[in-house]
Amino acid sequence: MTISPIIDAVLNRPYQEYQLEEPIEIDELPTPALVVNLPKFESNLIKMASFSRSAEKGVRPHAKTHKCPIICKKQIDHGAVGVCVAKVSEALSMANAGVDSILITSPVTTKAKASVLDLVASRIGNLATVVDSTKGLEVLQAQLDFSRSVGVLVDIDIEMGRTGTRDVDTVLRIIEEIDADERLVFKGLQHYAGHLMHIASFSERKEKSLALWDKVNDLVTVLDSKEISCDIVTGGGTGTYNIDCEVDRLTDLQVGSYIFMDQEYRIIASKEADHFEDFDVSLTVACTAISQPWKGAITVDGGYKSFASETLEPVAVDLPGARFKFAGDEHGVLLLQKGEQELSLGSVRQFVTPHCDPTVNLHDNYWIQKEDGLIHSIWPVSARGCSW
Ligand SMILES: Cc1ncc(COP(=O)(O)O)c(C=O)c1O
Repeated sequence: MTISPIIDAVLNRPYQEYQLEEPIEIDELPTPALVVNLPKFESNLIKMASFSRSAEKGVRPHAKTHKCPIICKKQIDHGAVGVCVAKVSEALSMANAGVDSILITSPVTTKAKASVLDLVASRIGNLATVVDSTKGLEVLQAQLDFSRSVGVLVDIDIEMGRTGTRDVDTVLRIIEEIDADERLVFKGLQHYAGHLMHIASFSERKEKSLALWDKVNDLVTVLDSKEISCDIVTGGGTGTYNIDCEVDRLTDLQVGSYIFMDQEYRIIASKEADHFEDFDVSLTVACTAISQPWKGAITVDGGYKSFASETLEPVAVDLPGARFKFAGDEHGVLLLQKGEQELSLGSVRQFVTPHCDPTVNLHDNYWIQKEDGLIHSIWPVSARGCSW
């Protein structure tokens, strides 16, 4: 395979926990450093697991958020039916670390990526992928070894306009072709409405999400009428987890961000409150104060290379009212509350990330903070850069 060097690079990435010889304080971290607060992280895991149990839905968490096989395994240990990944390289990274049940949620339309998918299928027992075109299906069929067995879901687009098909005839044609291929098993449908996840009002989010699911239901009814069984109907995200669970035919929730939370989610309303605090912020980036050109502000060592943001800014955890302003790739300037806040050079502060998924992709490791406040170990972000 011509791309074998980058495949080898993914396969050679570390994926195991590394215990520090001795626990260290937050202010001993080589900042900017991505920190996971383990008790909060575990509480998020447990909350989603018990919510889904009581709602009688499965959870198929999206590993695009964390890119970390250790976290996939914890999610599966807490009852997840498998994990999602966005791309074939992420699938390869997770499969290489022993994650056995993976759904690829973006269509594959090239020979090179289809051959990586074939490689992943050769390594794990339960690989599924979405398809949204007959062309994509043909490319996949051309690369799959005759001995493989791969589940296929048709990706449905109702309104978002990103991936998926809106055309019922295309859905039926794809299913027909899947049925004619012994290597493929039709599993069901995927529908993800990412454009609704951050709608500020809970009631508006709910109304819009359920309206789209109604249309997915219409399609499921067409399949029912043709006696095509649809074992999996998967979708939804953190912003709609307790909305989409009302959809009768939905089998599992593809929630991603709940495990960490970020500022984009924190500022929207939840079912009960003005702010979305159903899950704790377990992910922060620790930065060090490195310079103070003028009083009233202080410069920290994290900028665009440490925080990914489309709209919002990082938020300092213990400095209420202080504002972070991006000051380039490596720096941020923290505007302190007049007269009330002092920060000395060398001190380390933690910041809530504006958007967790792309922020994680900027870091090699998570630093794991336990109940005692100390950092005890490192989890590699094994699929960092696996965006192909
Ligand atoms: C297809 C798909 N499913 C699920 C998710 C998870 O969404 P969230 O992080 O909002 O829970 C995403 C995130 O972008 C996604 O693209």
